[in-house]
Amino acid sequence: MEYFAVQGGVPLEGCVAVHGAKNSALPILAATLLAPGEHVLHNCPDLTDIAAALAILSCLGCQVRREGSTVVVNTIHRRGCAVPDRLMGQMRASVLFLGSLLASSGEAIACWPGGCALGERPIDLHLRALRLLGAEVLDRGGRLSCRCPRLRGNRIVLPFPSVGATENAMLAACGAQGVTEICNAAQELEIVDLQNFLRACGANISGGGTQRIVVYGGVPLHPGEHSVMPDRIVTATYLCAVAAAGGEGELLAAQGGAVAPVLQALTAAGCQIWETQRGLAVRRQGALRGIGPIVTAPYPGFPTDAQPLLAAVLAKAQGESAITETIFDRRFRYTQQLCRMGARIQVEGDTARICGAPLQGASVKATDLRGGAALTIAALGAQGCSQVYGLEHIDRGYERLETALGCLGGRIRRTTR
Ligand code: EPZ
Repeated sequence: MEYFAVQGGVPLEGCVAVHGAKNSALPILAATLLAPGEHVLHNCPDLTDIAAALAILSCLGCQVRREGSTVVVNTIHRRGCAVPDRLMGQMRASVLFLGSLLASSGEAIACWPGGCALGERPIDLHLRALRLLGAEVLDRGGRLSCRCPRLRGNRIVLPFPSVGATENAMLAACGAQGVTEICNAAQELEIVDLQNFLRACGANISGGGTQRIVVYGGVPLHPGEHSVMPDRIVTATYLCAVAAAGGEGELLAAQGGAVAPVLQALTAAGCQIWETQRGLAVRRQGALRGIGPIVTAPYPGFPTDAQPLLAAVLAKAQGESAITETIFDRRFRYTQQLCRMGARIQVEGDTARICGAPLQGASVKATDLRGGAALTIAALGAQGCSQVYGLEHIDRGYERLETALGCLGGRIRRTTR
């Protein structure tokens, strides 16, 4: 069994590059099905979730190859419209293949998607959007069968700005005849990146990054070449690592505007963060102080994916902090593990109340991706040695996190027991 062996309590000093965004690359890989030919995706991170998306494309007859951080997907010989259960169950984003399969072949067959256990994660908004575009969607005991030989554009009003449902609607709308309007769309930067890729393929789509996206569908698309945006949650992770351990680090390719609420919170907690010619730099010399209240919200609010990372920093700050989670109903499971390191955190309903305390190394286990990153951050800031288990969660979203944190001066090794 693999784990991270972390020697904490040592201030960081170093420089690390931020890799491409998982949550941008995944919908873009699904989008490659929309056009026959050879797509080129630069800055595509090497993660297990990306490997799962590439495996789905391979099962559908596409040829995929990786050359460093560039992935080439040739969809010319694609066939079939069924995604194997084993691959659907590996991650949540597999649900995006429903939209792109429907748009490109008029049919999609799959089971319900897997993904991090963050609470109830229904897909009703995805299925509703596909139905509004004319698809017949049958759900027989968790087996989904979507059919529509000819999708038609429509007005889709999302009751909640779901990231995945917005992306699925964009993908399906590209294959629908006529105009589709997606109202109350998610405004996350990854949506803009997907729009940029679709435009590179010739799609007529606008409004990504606002609440109203308009797609003029039914236009034949061609293969696209695109560079995936830097990962904003990985950026937040490295910033929080320096904040927790102290010291100074530079993050190459990091974009401050993409993580503005995280910068604000870390600055309030006692960090200095500034833009450099190559990205962002962060320094923390004095003591951390408690802040709050922080409330997670859809973009441009405080990102839910960064709340465990910030909690790991605030756990050792002087004073009290409070974080309220409004997106997922079970995203505080990692706090129990943080408490094993000496953190004083009480979860009451949707709010975690953190009373800063010194942390000590401990043996802890990740229960989901960002929770695992939070435990690693806390371990860097804790006195003594820690063992962080559950690396299969962390590897879904971080490209060799131990190497990256090592570049920042962290004493961390991947070890097998
Ligand atoms: C995306 O998940 C990200 N995943 C998540 O990143 C991220 O936490 C989340 O957006 C919010 O920013 C990918 O992009 C692959 P949602 P997604 O649909 O699309 C409810 C990470 O760590 N909902 O915006 O699944 C849902 O239950 C991950 O990288 C419905 O009720 O998020 C949740 O409460 C984890 N019905 C809320 O909406 C639906 O049909 C937000 O979900 C869809 C969603």
